[in-house]
Amino acid sequence: MSNRGLEGKTALITGASRGLGKAIALALAQAGARLILVARDFELLTQTADAARALGSQASVFQTDVTDETQIQDMQREIAGEFGRIQILINNAGMNIRKPATEFTLPEWRQVIDTNMTSAFLICRSFVPLMKGQGFGRILNLTSIMSHIALPGRTAYCASKAGLLGFTRALALELAPEKITVNGISPGPFATEINTPVMQNPELNQQFVSRIPLGRWGQVEEVGQLAVYLCSEAAGFITGTDLLMDGGWTAQ
Ligand SMILES: NC(=O)c1ccc[n+]([C@@H]2O[C@H](COP(=O)([O-])OP(=O)(O)OC[C@H]3O[C@@H](n4cnc5c(N)ncnc54)[C@H](OP(=O)(O)O)[C@@H]3O)[C@@H](O)[C@H]2O)c1
Repeated sequence: MSNRGLEGKTALITGASRGLGKAIALALAQAGARLILVARDFELLTQTADAARALGSQASVFQTDVTDETQIQDMQREIAGEFGRIQILINNAGMNIRKPATEFTLPEWRQVIDTNMTSAFLICRSFVPLMKGQGFGRILNLTSIMSHIALPGRTAYCASKAGLLGFTRALALELAPEKITVNGISPGPFATEINTPVMQNPELNQQFVSRIPLGRWGQVEEVGQLAVYLCSEAAGFITGTDLLMDGGWTAQ
């Protein structure tokens, strides 16, 4: 694959203001893709866009809450007008609330499910029509090792990520005739804001690292490189599956 293998492709990435979404955006920029960056924090999104432009990519910013159907529809109209078509869609926005199931309020439960799973449905419903008819397309959903295994205190997160994996598989079958592939990337522990509660607690941090056979946290750039590969022409026979990048955690 050439360094600029995604030249000519337009990629929409949710949760591009920080963490894995930002790293994926910058890896795609490096590979030549034009970026549509989506999240709620305009300031941070602008920083991602500036970094992408410094890598030679065009980047546009959309301040959108991915749990809000109306905001997504408004964004879709604007993007359809400005870009016409897109080729790559990355549902990365996510969040976590860690507590026992019996302590969850219904709004908290719904916030996790809406952010991690329903958002992918809303975004795909709006943007798949802009992807069809090109004989090429790539959708990546940021699933998790929690799509496959579980930890206590993660009921909402595990439910949302297992659901997202099911959504990924079914959508892959629906879109295969269009040659649009749909896959999950399941990260293990990566040192981003979502894991601050673990990283800031030395005991928990040590417990986490001791469960990772490779003995370290993942680096966000590693997910970026996997995303570039899955979005490339070379990955055209991979669909309806989920790539674990977890330092060996789930092999145990
Ligand atoms: N880090 C890990 O170890 C790990 C492991 C497995 C899976 N994952 C998954 O990977 C994805 C990225 O995680 P991360 O570690 O990069 O998390 P992060 O650093 O907390 O970033 C989360 C991103 O999601 C965006 N977001 C959250 N709620 C949103 C909403 N309602 N509307 C629009 N954007 C929203 C945030 O942007 P704004 O706040 O600006 O809106 C931010 O850009 C998530 O789906 C996460 O579940 C992460």
